[in-house]
Amino acid sequence: MLGNFSYHNPTKLYFGEDSLSNLKTELANYGKNILFVYGGGSIKKSGLYDEIITILNECGKNVAEVAGVMPNPTSDKLNEGVAIAREHKTDFILAVGGGSVCDFSKAVSVSVNCGDDPWEKYFIRFEEPTCEIVPVGCVLTMAGTGSEMNGGSVITNHEAKLKIGHVFGDDVMPKFSILNPRYTMTLPKYQMAAGIYDILNHICEQYFSGEDDNTSDYISEGLMKSLIHSSRIAVENPQDYEARSNIMWTATWALNTLVSRGKSEDWMVHMLGQAVGAYTDATHGMTLAAVSLPYYRYIMPYGLKKFARFATEVWGVSAEGKTDEQLANEGLFAMESWMKEIGLVMNISELGATEDMIEGIADATIILNGGYNVLDRDEIVQILKASM
Ligand code: NZQ
Ligand code: ZN
Repeated sequence: MLGNFSYHNPTKLYFGEDSLSNLKTELANYGKNILFVYGGGSIKKSGLYDEIITILNECGKNVAEVAGVMPNPTSDKLNEGVAIAREHKTDFILAVGGGSVCDFSKAVSVSVNCGDDPWEKYFIRFEEPTCEIVPVGCVLTMAGTGSEMNGGSVITNHEAKLKIGHVFGDDVMPKFSILNPRYTMTLPKYQMAAGIYDILNHICEQYFSGEDDNTSDYISEGLMKSLIHSSRIAVENPQDYEARSNIMWTATWALNTLVSRGKSEDWMVHMLGQAVGAYTDATHGMTLAAVSLPYYRYIMPYGLKKFARFATEVWGVSAEGKTDEQLANEGLFAMESWMKEIGLVMNISELGATEDMIEGIADATIILNGGYNVLDRDEIVQILKASM
């Protein structure tokens, strides 16, 4: 741990099958006017909507709703949400859904009391909130993004063809999150697999950087091993509570800043995936899966030792008599076969990307410099072509 860093995470978590029973106590800490935010209807089908409404009524809250938050929430929907939140004089935002609903709620929370256009202020100019932030709490129904315990908020602007994330500070992070693995069991297999890959990739984005001996990397390896193990069980039997609970807990720790402490971070798979998402509106985890192997195979020579370690420590590849290069290749082959086994999409054309989009996707890809090699635009185009 060679760097200097701080670590603080203010989000309180309630985990397990009985976790919703804590909602009442938490809500007692906030005012009467609640903005209840949810997605396209899965919580109505599952019955969670009714349970939440009952609790809100029992608490004597005055409820307004923002329904229909779509996967990859848009700037237009954000403006709509902000207007409803203002009209309702919102004291507290309750997000019930996946990462999209949680991200959207955070974006509303920093915009209600702010006069500027939120897309321009937070996602183009990357400014920090200077207005009063409305507190947010989450009831999570999908494991993947880590939004339940971080300050991230990703918004898509279809007109500008951009999908951009802003990582806000402690004040924007959920005050509490309720994590009941049982809620994730109604997810379609496609979404479950996408969420699992999102988790693995969050860890990889923080693992593939640096050369020092760092405790964060050992924690990452443990999380990845648990995730891979549980994913295989969950794909066979999505109703396996133990596996689904491990996946949910891993998701939270994969992206709540713990495993990035003392390290630089890569995040280029996410930059590529988000640009693909801006053009195709595809499921986040699948966009990552589709660009990952071409990207990792491209940068592997620059971080050979870490890729070799990834092979032995995460995928159990035997090191006997092998060079680092052989090991690194075998590790990525092991990852590829696991990705196919759990049903991930392996190329961007299957997600709707076409040859004529490549240049635009490359333009929409933000280039970062924390990984083993800083790409230039030509290399981005090359990786995107290899992902077709
Ligand atoms: O809208 P509903 O009807 O609820 O359906 C959703 C949606 O169609 C469905 N779903 C969620 N829980 C369900 C369920 N269906 C049945 N049963 C359940 N229990 O799943 C679909 C996808 O939901 P969504 O919330 O979009 O998925 P996810 O959690 O993967 O969130 C994706 C968004 O998060 C952003 C992504 O870019 C994307 O916009 N990210 C946020 C991050 C963060 N805050 O740190 C980091 C990530 O890297 C990511 O970029
Ligand atoms: Zn992600």
